[in-house]
Amino acid sequence: MERTFAMIKPDGVRRNLTAEILGRLIRKGYRVVGLKQMVIPRELAEQHYAEHKERPFFGELVDFITSGPVVAIALEGENVISGLRTLMGATNPKDAAPGTFRGDYATSIGENVIHGSANEHDAARELGLFFSDAELLK
Ligand code: TYD
Repeated sequence: MERTFAMIKPDGVRRNLTAEILGRLIRKGYRVVGLKQMVIPRELAEQHYAEHKERPFFGELVDFITSGPVVAIALEGENVISGLRTLMGATNPKDAAPGTFRGDYATSIGENVIHGSANEHDAARELGLFFSDAELLK
């Protein structure tokens, strides 16, 4: 059993996609073990996206992710790390298949509705940034 970190980005929350996205994740068979709507402090956003610090889009990325409430999700299930990435679709919505969150709902690479940890190492790191142990179901 794996755990991963998912996040509905500010565009997804603003567009009222929270119930749709959570519903799909749950119907897929994943268990929501942590959940909070929050505005991400700038410092946390910079830590979360630290791997992109040197990229030209880093400033815009941090501006965007702190621009309004997000929904942080701790998700549990068999192979949930890669499974969530499959449900998300490609980073750039123009390459994302229909039926994926990004394929169905996103139009620009900057505002692409949902985040999901890329691998086991990132999942553990990101879950630790956003949730304390006490906030997660056993
Ligand atoms: P990345 O980790 O490469 O993608 P993913 O979210 O699919 O794991 O990039 C993180 C976010 O950075 C991405 O969701 C949107 C933003 N981004 C841009 O704005 N421009 C870009 O050219 C890239 C690669 C990412």
